[in-house]
Order: sequence, then structure tokens, then C-alpha cells
Amino acid sequence: MSLKSHEINLDITPITETFGAIISGVKLSNQMSQDELNQIKSYWNRYQILLFRDQDLSKEDIIGFSRELGDLEIHIRNEWLNDSHPEILQISNINVDGKPIGALADGEVGWHYDQIYLKRPALGSLLCSVKIPPEGGCTYFADMTTAYERLPLELKATIDGRLGIQSYENFNNLYSTKTDENQTSLTQKITQPLVRTHPVTGRRALYLCPGMTVGITGIPDDESDAILQQLFDWCLQDDFVYKHNWRLGDALLWDNACTMHRREPFDSVHERLMFRTTILPQAERAVPF
Ligand SMILES: [Fe+2]
Repeated sequence: MSLKSHEINLDITPITETFGAIISGVKLSNQMSQDELNQIKSYWNRYQILLFRDQDLSKEDIIGFSRELGDLEIHIRNEWLNDSHPEILQISNINVDGKPIGALADGEVGWHYDQIYLKRPALGSLLCSVKIPPEGGCTYFADMTTAYERLPLELKATIDGRLGIQSYENFNNLYSTKTDENQTSLTQKITQPLVRTHPVTGRRALYLCPGMTVGITGIPDDESDAILQQLFDWCLQDDFVYKHNWRLGDALLWDNACTMHRREPFDSVHERLMFRTTILPQAERAVPF
């Protein structure tokens, strides 16, 4: 199905029955019209993930467009920031002079919400493919809104009003590298509501992820482990998951309030480089609720 926007010339093609859309007829840049930006923001809220194909983006385009969506974060993993444009975090397995130029190398990166371990987690991210392997390295997204809406009532009641314990250290131990002293001090364990309400759409979504959610406050570890496992299994059903097979020129924008993601491994003989911007929420959208 392809729907034509009435206001401007954007074509919207939904990706799955519940979330994700491909938007065509637009070139992302720092010189987009307000109408285009308003439409994109509204589709972002509605579809949660927006895919823009065949983009040929300069770093200025990436940053300029991202900035229209919110202030940009200079990511705490400063070892992987782009040299000339620190708003861009590099995700890559490329080494220069024996040092990785980006995060996460070529291995599996388990399911996570970006920055669920921060009090003010990112509103979303834009990820742009610069260099991709011939196969592998796909990114998967889970629709945590639909997962919550279809959750059995009994499980909904179990987690109602509960807080999840979030650990960036847990994620790094499994999938990345350790943080330095300063980064560690900025990413201590915190709690977040296990269900959050989207600040724009009002829809509720599960806010937990296998990579970072390590417990539930007020519930003993063995019991909370079992509940979390049940929830993870529920969210990762095929019905709620979209697998994105990257093409060069893809730019993918996700809503970090209601989708989690993972990256599958790829063959280390191939180079992969992605540019990511991290979009901060406005003050009124800052704290999950
Ligand atoms: Fe991520």
C-alpha cells in the first residue's frame, strides 16, 4: 500500500502491519521546508521507524536534518565520535593505526533501547549507512507498543507501576567495551518505568530490553529474572519484529520511546561504517512516564 500525503509530495509505504514506513520523495538535508519537517515528525510518531532510501548525505545534511528534530547529543563514548563532526557517533569495525574508529565492531549487538540507562534517554536516533558488508549486519527493531497492547492481562498486571533496573555495564560486558572512569560515573545503574506512555501519541509501550534491563525493583532476583524472560520472549515474537537489511544510502530514523533494536554480526573481513546522530528530547519529553 502506498499513501500519498496531501500536504506535500511525500510517499508513505508502511513496512509491517503495525509499525515502520518507507518515506520517499524527499532528500534529507539542512534545508528542508517546514511542511516537509512537520510531515516527517508526524509520521515518525505514528510509524515509530522511518526509512529513507537512496540518500546521498553529507555530514552537514545528517546533522542539519537531525537538529530539526531536537538538540543533538555529543555521545559519552567520545572515543568513537567523528573527528570533525562530534555530533556523529561512528558505528564501525574499521581500524585506523590499530585503533577502532567506531563502536560495536562486527559482533552481535543484543536487544536494547538506546540510553535506557540515562535519566534523560534519547528521543531517537538517525542511522545512516556509509559502508556496508555484502551480507549480515542487519538491524532488527521490535514494536514495543504493539507488544504492550497485546500483552496478556495477567502480565500487564504483574508489571503495572513497576520499575526496571537498567545497566549500561551489563550491555558493555556482553556486546561492547568497558567505559572509562568518567563514562562509568555518568552511567551508573538507574531505574525506569517498565511501561512508558508515549509523550505525543499517548500509547503505552514496554520499556525494557534484554541487553540492559537486569531486574525489577521490589521483586527478588530469581522471580524478576523469570518475569523479564517471559516479557522478552513475548516482545521478540515475529509479529512484533522488523528486520532491516541495509542498502547503501539508507537513513533510518527510530523512535526510542517505543522501539528497541539489535544488530546481527557480520563477517569481519568486510568493512562497515554507519553514522549515527542521537536526538535529545525537549525538556517536557525528557523523563519517561
Ligand atoms: Fe543502539
